[in-house]
Amino acid sequence: MTESIPAGLPMPMHVSGLPARVRIHEVGPRDGLQNEQMVVPVEVKADFIRRLADTGLSTIEATSFVHPKWVPQLADAEQLMPMLKGVPARLPVLVPNERGLERALALGVREIAVFGSATESFARANLNRTVDESIAMFAPVVARAREARVRVRGYVSMCFGDPWEGAVPLPQVVRVCRSLMDIGCDELSLGDTIGVATPGHVLALLSALNEAGISTARLAVHFHDTYGQALANTFAALQHGVTTVDASAGGLGGCPYAKSATGNLATEDLVWMLHGLGIETGVDLGRLTATSVWMAAHLGRPSPSRTVRALSGTTSYEEQ
Ligand code: HMG
Ligand code: MG
Repeated sequence: MTESIPAGLPMPMHVSGLPARVRIHEVGPRDGLQNEQMVVPVEVKADFIRRLADTGLSTIEATSFVHPKWVPQLADAEQLMPMLKGVPARLPVLVPNERGLERALALGVREIAVFGSATESFARANLNRTVDESIAMFAPVVARAREARVRVRGYVSMCFGDPWEGAVPLPQVVRVCRSLMDIGCDELSLGDTIGVATPGHVLALLSALNEAGISTARLAVHFHDTYGQALANTFAALQHGVTTVDASAGGLGGCPYAKSATGNLATEDLVWMLHGLGIETGVDLGRLTATSVWMAAHLGRPSPSRTVRALSGTTSYEEQ
């Protein structure tokens, strides 16, 4: 697959003011597979994560310790984690509450993510809680995780728009972000769960968070490509100084409790842009594309990633 990348492309052209290196937080095995109709066998999931680590990805979100009835696609978390021993990557998992944390700690997990919402509608749909009740649910989780020296990411979904409530006011997002920082999260990931953000909105939110005392170094961005804005939004975030970007191999995923959410930004599309900007990622794009082609065959549908399609030269998983 590597040789299918045209020699010398993308040609690195630096833009001043951008970071020299970006850490990609790969969410395909969790955010991607949670949204698939089919339940992917646990052996395939483990193989997927090993292959992703082999591409050079340093952070791979592996699974969720949520209620198995809420996300049956990830109900095999207890089987999966022991299969990942020795994988050379950070392997964070989603944890909504103390029950989830106990399950994760029992398996030796070293990084977790709690996942809040900027809107009441999504907090209710995703967590069966109000926004404030969700923060109250997370507080003892974060405290216990920190005691155990487990790193904690805080997701904030619906930072830009919400399918039930429309545009989300900046102060509402800032309030939730501030609360997650105050309970002790190490990092926040700003989710455009339904993919409606545009670059000016991204810059406005990042500035509003800085004004609220949250430094850019502690912020990651999580874009969905519903309206084709994910890379433009990423570029804006890079210009603001963000150096952690979430993406999903092959563009897998959406969100089971937000029907209008289409795929996450594809990791291959992100890597193509970053390498074109001369930004280091440590990722081998050829290997990554081969992994997404392999996964597409398991899922029975082609990857929506433009880069995967261009590099594999097809639009059908059968031909891939
Ligand atoms: P609930 O029904 O309110 O739960 O759900 P509860 O606290 O009332 O407990 C009910 C029962 O569930 C109890 O059992 C608990 O023990 C059990 P019982 O006593 O009745 O026998 N239970 C659990 N079992 C296993 N693991 C657990 C757990 N917790 C409770 N962790 C709950 C509340 C939070 C559990 C539920 O709403 C849930 O699991 N939600 C998760 C939904 C989810 O994973 N959504 C997708 C992730 S978010 C996302 O994708 C967005 C993001 O990617 C960013 C973006 O894209 O923008 C992050
Ligand atoms: Mg997502």
